Amino acid sequence: MSEFKIIDSEKFLEFLKGRRSIRNFQEKIISDKEINMILEAGRWAPSASNRQPWEFIVIKNRNILKKISETGMYSKFIRKAPMAIAIVGKISENPTWYIQDTTLASMNMMLMAWTLNIGTCWLGSMDREKVKKLLGLGRNDFLLTILSMGYIKGKIPKPSLRKDLDAIKKEIK
Ligand SMILES: Cc1cc2nc3c(=O)[nH]c(=O)nc-3n(C[C@H](O)[C@H](O)[C@H](O)COP(=O)(O)O)c2cc1C
Repeated sequence: MSEFKIIDSEKFLEFLKGRRSIRNFQEKIISDKEINMILEAGRWAPSASNRQPWEFIVIKNRNILKKISETGMYSKFIRKAPMAIAIVGKISENPTWYIQDTTLASMNMMLMAWTLNIGTCWLGSMDREKVKKLLGLGRNDFLLTILSMGYIKGKIPKPSLRKDLDAIKKEIK
């Protein structure tokens, strides 16, 4: 094994376990420096054949966030966020892998945000066609998710449950 230690593994695992979906946000504005760090984390995600078939839309318009929040069953929280980032797959740039690629970029962004004390929540529940129109997206654009972002308001929610490792681990010897 190499002597070079990239990051403390135990601490990193604790960090991964500590991230929570956040649905309550402070009004405090997130600086462009921090937004760009989050976008950079997305930009450096792996992608199939390194095609990077994505676009990240920073939404700071509260009126649009409110309209988005009205399109889904579990989307109300997004109106409380000072901003959000829509993760868009450019379908023609990699028709086979754009979903996987954009998902990886999203995860990088959520984790980067967490290091900055910025909470995020993946929005899945929305009327995609309505929201695509609101964002000016077209037929080649796959709207993966909109990550709401803001400094955490109140307490960090208790850890959500996870299946036991024994229940999901299989071995082939
Ligand atoms: C694909 C996907 C869709 C999701 N959609 C929503 C959603 O529409 N509304 C919501 O409040 N949370 C949504 N979530 C957040 C999950 O509820 C959350 O990640 C899960 O309960 C685990 O909690 P944790 O992120 O705090 O560990 C979504 C998460 C994923 C990965």
